[in-house]
Parts: sequence; C-alpha cells; structure tokens
Amino acid sequence: MEKIIAVTRGDGIGPEVVNEGLKILKVIAEFTDLSFEFKDAPAGGEVYKKYGENLPKKSFDIIKGADALLFGAVGLPELPPGVAETAILRIRQELDLYINLRPIKLYESLKDKCPLKDEFIGKGIDITFVRENTEGLYANIGYISDDRAENLMIYTRKGCERIIRYAYEFAKKMGHSKVTSVDKANILKTSQLWRKIFHEIGSDYPNLQKEDIYIDAYCQWLIRAPYRFQTVVTGNMFGDIISDEGAFLIGSLGMASSGNIHPGKVSMYEPIHGSAPDISGKGIANPIGAILSVKLMMQESFQSSDIAKEIENSVEEALKEGRTIDLRNPEIKNLTTKEMGDLVAEKLKVRLKR
Ligand code: NAI
Ligand code: MG
Repeated sequence: MEKIIAVTRGDGIGPEVVNEGLKILKVIAEFTDLSFEFKDAPAGGEVYKKYGENLPKKSFDIIKGADALLFGAVGLPELPPGVAETAILRIRQELDLYINLRPIKLYESLKDKCPLKDEFIGKGIDITFVRENTEGLYANIGYISDDRAENLMIYTRKGCERIIRYAYEFAKKMGHSKVTSVDKANILKTSQLWRKIFHEIGSDYPNLQKEDIYIDAYCQWLIRAPYRFQTVVTGNMFGDIISDEGAFLIGSLGMASSGNIHPGKVSMYEPIHGSAPDISGKGIANPIGAILSVKLMMQESFQSSDIAKEIENSVEEALKEGRTIDLRNPEIKNLTTKEMGDLVAEKLKVRLKR
C-alpha cells in the first residue's frame, strides 16, 4: 500500500541525516509490500530567511495531507533562538501530537561508549519514555514582566488519560512486564491527579506491574539501575529532562530517535538532536537517530513491527563494522554520514530479502 511521507529536511545537519533515513525507506519500498511517495515540506531557518515564515502554509498543507512526517532538525545560529524552532511546536500543537515517544537502547556493540560502569549497566538498557507532549508547564500559559514571571501548570483528566492509556497499550504491545510512572505527587497537585489516573487506568491491565517514582529519585535510579525500567510514562517537563539524561547513556545524542504521535493521524518522526551547526556540511553527522526514527514510523504509524525490528537489527550489526566520529573507537572503522547510511541499508537489504 502506498503511503505519503512528508519530508522536512530543515537546517544544518538536518538534510544530511534525513537523506540516510530516506535511503532506508527506499530499501523498504524495494523489498516489502509498502511503497512511498515522498513530498518535500520545507520548514525552519533557511525557509524563514527566504519567505519570512518558518512553516509556510504550503509545507504545512503537505504535512497535514501525509500519512507520516520525517523531520530532520531546525535552527540556525545566525537567527535569534526560536525563530526557526517554533515550527516544531506549531506542528506538535496543531496536529495534537500528544505522545512523545523516546526509546533508548544500549546496543551490545556500543557498550564502550556508555558512561556507566558494567555493574550499573547490569543486564542492559532498553527503555521507552512516553512523554505527555501538550499539557503542563510547556503549554506556555503565563507572562513575564520586569519583576515577576508566571507559568501555569495545568493537567486535565482527558490529557492524563490518553497518554497513560497509550503507555499501557505500548507496554502490552512490546511484551513489557512493568510500567513506571514518574511524577512529583508529594508536592504537586497536578501529579496527584496524574498518579490517581495512572492507577485507575492500570486496573484495566492486571498483567502489568505498576510502579510510581518521584522525579528526583528517578534521576538517580536512571543511572544507578537503568535495567529496572521498560516503559516509563511521565509529564511534559519531567519527560523532556529524563529523556535527555537517558539519551546520553546510549553513546551519543546522534543515536536517539523520537516520535511525536497521535494514533491514527499524521505523526512526526525525528532524531532528538538539533541542527548541530558545529559539524554541519562536513558529512560526519551520525545518521542513526534519523534511521531509528524511520524504525519508529514503521512500528507506530504503519503497524510494521517486523520491518522495525529488522531496521534495528541492521543498525546494531552495522555498528560492529563502522561508526561515525561521535562514536569514535580506534579499533572500529570511521565512516562518513553517507557511508554509515549505506552500511545500514546494505544490512537491511540482506535481511528483507530473506
Ligand atoms: P544539537 O543537538 O544540535 O548539538 C549538540 C551537540 O551534539 C553538538 O556538539 C553536535 O555536534 C552534537 N550532535 C548533535 N547531533 C549529532 C549527530 N547526529 N551526530 C554527531 N554529533 C551530533 O544541539 P544545540 O547545539 O544545542 O542546538 C543547535 C541548534 O539546533 C539550535 O538552533 C537549537 O535550537 C536547534 N535544536 C533543534 C532541535 C530540533 O530540530 N528538534 C532539537 C534541539 C536543538
Ligand atoms: Mg529537550
């Protein structure tokens, strides 16, 4: 079945890594029943410089009409902060992408790049953060004056219910045995509502273990015993912070992927890194965050978990033979962005041919 994929390359290394993601989609089209039509939907800083807006209507219309969006990164050092980046917020808000899915998995072949000692890695790191993406402090309700500023933190029953239910369903789908909820219910009223709803909905999932942890304690558990966690559901701000902490445990920011999802509607898949102006144009950026974002697209938007698994296996296999410079290891071949993408694509071809 043909799927329409909107493609936003963006700024800096965005276009470099998206090209490698597209390479993977083309392999999938060649060897499976899926096929794709790609439609460019330019957004970000370069577009702003040309047209005076970071998300032209034409681009947004293409995104709204697509089955999924593959997004690179936006942001230019010569523009004030936010001028390019608010394009992302607009897409998330207007498409009501209430789920921010951020998996972190430490591959056996990247153990040398994990900052934790073996005793803390234990039986391995494979966690998916399910972050609420529309409510809480980041809904940007507030004001600033010269001597006072306010942000309002609002969580609604509807907002909590839909993200928490998704997390339980996700855990079930992935064969996890436990869902962890991270909050600050000892202080925050919003967290007290969150926790209540976490357990109410949890009663529909008797086979899943439920666990509550306060955000401050969680930050230390994540580096002390990351192997304890599988699906972790949390609010907007806590999710932002712990998913970045987690991303560092898998070796490089360039490895981490994400989905901004509304089940059944157009969802957005992007590496979590930014436009990395310090390395852009050099052909050395790690494309795996973008490639694993394609993996998430298969898993979440196209119900193709088998293909998703093969992408991940291909990445893991490729990393044993070569790596980009952010994952430098003198004993393993150093690859450019394009070579890294080619290597993963080769591995995937072999796997999908079988
Ligand atoms: P960044 O993620 O672009 O870079 C941080 C550091 O990680 C840099 O040293 C960079 O070289 C390195 N890095 C990032 N991705 C890499 C990759 N794929 N391979 C190898 N190394 C990689 O964050 P930074 O520098 O804070 O932001 C740069 C611009 O990107 C800013 O304009 C920022 O607003 C924007 N940004 C955009 C995001 C998005 O489009 N979703 C997310 C984060 C930042
Ligand atoms: Mg962040």
